[in-house]
Amino acid sequence: MNEKLEKLDSKIAEAKLGGGEKRIESQHKKGKLTARERIELFFDKGSFEEMGMLVTPRSTNFGLDKQKFYGDGVITGYGKVNGRLVYAFSQDFTVLGGSLAEAHAEKIVKIMDLAMQNGAPVIGLNDSGGARIQEGVVSLGGYADIFYRNTLSSGVIPQISAILGPCAGGAVYSPALTDFILMVENTSYMFVTGPSVVKTVTNEDVTSEELGGADTHASKSGVSHFACENEIEALEKIKQLLSYMPSNCEDEAPMMPYTTGDETRDVLSKIIPENPNQPYDMREVISGTVDSESFLEVHKDYAENIVVGFARLAGRSIGIVANQPAVLAGVLDVNSSKKAARFVRFCDCFNIPLLVFEDVPGFLPGTDQEWNAIITNGAKLLYAFSEATVPRVTVITRKAYGGAYDVMNSKHIGADMNYAWPSAEIAVMGAKGAAEIIFRKEIAEADDSAAKLKEKEDEYAELFAHPYNAAARGYIDEIIKPEKTREKLIKAFEMLENKVSSLPKKKHGNIPL
Ligand code: HXC
Repeated sequence: MNEKLEKLDSKIAEAKLGGGEKRIESQHKKGKLTARERIELFFDKGSFEEMGMLVTPRSTNFGLDKQKFYGDGVITGYGKVNGRLVYAFSQDFTVLGGSLAEAHAEKIVKIMDLAMQNGAPVIGLNDSGGARIQEGVVSLGGYADIFYRNTLSSGVIPQISAILGPCAGGAVYSPALTDFILMVENTSYMFVTGPSVVKTVTNEDVTSEELGGADTHASKSGVSHFACENEIEALEKIKQLLSYMPSNCEDEAPMMPYTTGDETRDVLSKIIPENPNQPYDMREVISGTVDSESFLEVHKDYAENIVVGFARLAGRSIGIVANQPAVLAGVLDVNSSKKAARFVRFCDCFNIPLLVFEDVPGFLPGTDQEWNAIITNGAKLLYAFSEATVPRVTVITRKAYGGAYDVMNSKHIGADMNYAWPSAEIAVMGAKGAAEIIFRKEIAEADDSAAKLKEKEDEYAELFAHPYNAAARGYIDEIIKPEKTREKLIKAFEMLENKVSSLPKKKHGNIPL
């Protein structure tokens, strides 16, 4: 028996060494952790259970049979994160570059299937040279098996991808199908075709970092939701993200203990500037409203004219979508519509109530926007809000103009509670623009055109630049003092916590993609 135990110990030791000391050293030299170190850091201490540690590569092509690395370049299993069940795979770059082949894919598929059956999130720690070249079509098939499960799992269990090394070619599509992507600056990149192919095809000179590094995808393409300074920050961020989510679509997000007391927040009454055209930072409104330090911004560096993220309100997990007057006056454009729509749909999939702070002058005009389909993309946000059945509350802090008023979680598209601050202006457009259109003739014929415009602007503002017409119609449930916002929202979300609402029977809708 001793001999048999020793054999087992030796196999486990070999498996734990991955591609060997030298390759581990090389991984560290690149500023990266090993697959096993990542798993250790991610899961609650001692909770990770590995599956398929002794699985070996199948192919014998090109001498692969001489390199029978245990695990086939990926560590898979399950464990606890803050006490909750989570499945994960962690690709091991020290074994054949973490490349994906038949056995490697089967291991990932196995935990994906278990995660679906048991209703728990799947976390992918990606660090791979892509399809294992020596295994040919089998590797491609393995990817497709994963893509298929990513798609079927979408909206059933949360899926989060961390990119901690290379992720190129078709391999990018598994992370792209998941809910959130995190990247690490300087050590990770994602692209469909790398710099050398780009040079050949388009003659552009570009580095991997410029083409598909963390900052590029966090700010330019929006492919990634978080750019992290290092891997430890990325792993911590995933745990933080998970804390706002339920384990599956039939579950509720964990509620943090909270006892309500005086919820008045005077800071909120000092944010809106006297001049309605002066910007302010909507993040101040958010942080002034939600539980202290609870706001986790998502997609922070992309389409900054809209702010989205998770927060807690009296311990309850909520998703926030807020126009940002400090960037492009908070206007809605192609990218901000897509960003917000995707976030709204995530929250709706996973029963996370939505809170909207609105200060929006309308949609961004221009050929760039029209030719890039602001019509289709703006419709995404409209569609996403309209079909969301979670509790939905809106607070209009200042401007709610034009079509953007409708889109930003208005009562008409199914919001449950709509509040406005006294500073709100709910109208078809701003006073100056409106006066110039409807009194054009009068202004042109006046002896003093500027004075006439000002007179008509004031007249229009008196009639429309306030929330009282909307309140008179019941489109706004209550006009509230800013300092009372937190208190009102806590009560509203509590009132809505058992909300039951469903969509008409259908196979699925046809969101304007
Ligand atoms: C087999 C691979 C591999 C791969 C890397 N290795 N990628 N083995 N298949 N795809 C091996 C290397 O041979 C090397 O083995 C070890 O992993 C480490 O690789 P290095 O090149 O030494 O590392 P580094 O210099 O850091 O470069 C990393 C890299 C590079 C940029 C990822 O390895 C690379 O370009 N690899 C090929 C990438 C690729 O073209 N993949 C296919 C993409 S198409 P030794 O034994 O020397 O240490 C694809 C399609 C998916 O993925 C389709 C899905 C639909």
